[in-house]
Amino acid sequence: MPNIPLRSGGPNARIAVIPGDGIGKEVTPAAVAVIRAATAKRNRPIEFIEFDWGADRYLREGVSLPDGALEMLRDEFDAILFGALGDPRVPSNQHAADILLGLRFKLDLYVNARPTELLHERFTPLRDRTPKDINLMVFRENTEGLYVGVGGFFKKGTADEIAVQEDVNSRKGVERIIRHAFDYARARKLKRLCMSDKSNAMTFAHDLWQRVFKTVRTEYPDVDSRHLYIDTLAMELVRDPSQFDVIVTCNLFGDIISDLAAQLAGGLGLAPSGNIHPGKTSLFEPVHGSAPNIAGKGIANPFGSVLASSMLLEFLGWHEEATLLKQSIKSALAENITTPDLGGSKPTLVSWLVNYASKNS
Ligand code: NAD
Ligand code: IPM
Ligand code: MN
Repeated sequence: MPNIPLRSGGPNARIAVIPGDGIGKEVTPAAVAVIRAATAKRNRPIEFIEFDWGADRYLREGVSLPDGALEMLRDEFDAILFGALGDPRVPSNQHAADILLGLRFKLDLYVNARPTELLHERFTPLRDRTPKDINLMVFRENTEGLYVGVGGFFKKGTADEIAVQEDVNSRKGVERIIRHAFDYARARKLKRLCMSDKSNAMTFAHDLWQRVFKTVRTEYPDVDSRHLYIDTLAMELVRDPSQFDVIVTCNLFGDIISDLAAQLAGGLGLAPSGNIHPGKTSLFEPVHGSAPNIAGKGIANPFGSVLASSMLLEFLGWHEEATLLKQSIKSALAENITTPDLGGSKPTLVSWLVNYASKNS
């Protein structure tokens, strides 16, 4: 897993745990158990405090993100381990918008880091591709774009209805995510960075992305940077993923392209992410959602959540423990200890991962 900007590097950590809905409630406790096992023997005091924010509470009490939650997370916690939100009983998805997008926006977690790394060649659907071909980072802008909720209806429910959803892009917002991607590439001596937009059609919003990209790239002559339109990027990722090290793009395109990239390395069950503001309380979660179609069956893959936990530990500066978590997943994959989404039959892998982490810590 790539290094993430540090929060503190200190010996103690307080982690807020928000399992959320559906399989979030299954994979998150699994990840917590593996973190505990990896940190227990290493004199790493780590405290987990769980919050029951999600659909059940929303339906019961009408509360999504409680008053004071943001300040509490910002001031009293180093990081947040998040599961997933989304429940068929809340068709508006209002609680998810309040909680997940609320945390991303209001904690100003502007970097959505979504790495894709093929951990075992068996899991790519692409022919003749190996782990050396599939190892890239998508940086998704995480606080702006089409997600900000600016818009409205006119003549709603009539035949003349109009619906407007604005794409909001600030120079500051575009510049800081592009700069973060370049800094990341430079720090890891990764040569290739691709900025992706749709400036041929989105001639205002993505013209801004073009201009900022052209200015910022002049400061990074050591990074081989280029631009691809998002439709071409989607095609190129499938044709030849080995050409990509770092991709930076807007909020909506990053959402979509990171699911596509995840599938190149085994699917959503294996995909982690970090919602990061360097130096501030940040949130780590699997890329997948609450998967109502498999929730409650005990077959959800916890690997994405464990890999997100590895990113969280890296963020804390706990490099060895982060590596151990990732290694536990690699070993499980190598030994074919997997859930049905990866072709296995192990309903829960938690005890296997916990044993591995305890034995090797
Ligand atoms: P999803 O990611 O929940 O599921 C997509 C498919 O992948 C399903 O077939 C599911 O069974 C499978 N899958 C996902 N994670 C898996 C895992 N860990 N193990 C095994 N299989 C897994 O996406 P969806 O079905 O489009 O959305 C369901 C709900 O989740 C919606 O309410 C959506 O808004 C929400 N959602 C939330 C987040 C989040 O909280 N960050 C992310 C995506 C979707
Ligand atoms: C994700 C999800 C969310 C997003 C949804 C649930 C709003 O798909 O985290 O990728 O689009 O950001
Ligand atoms: Mn998504």
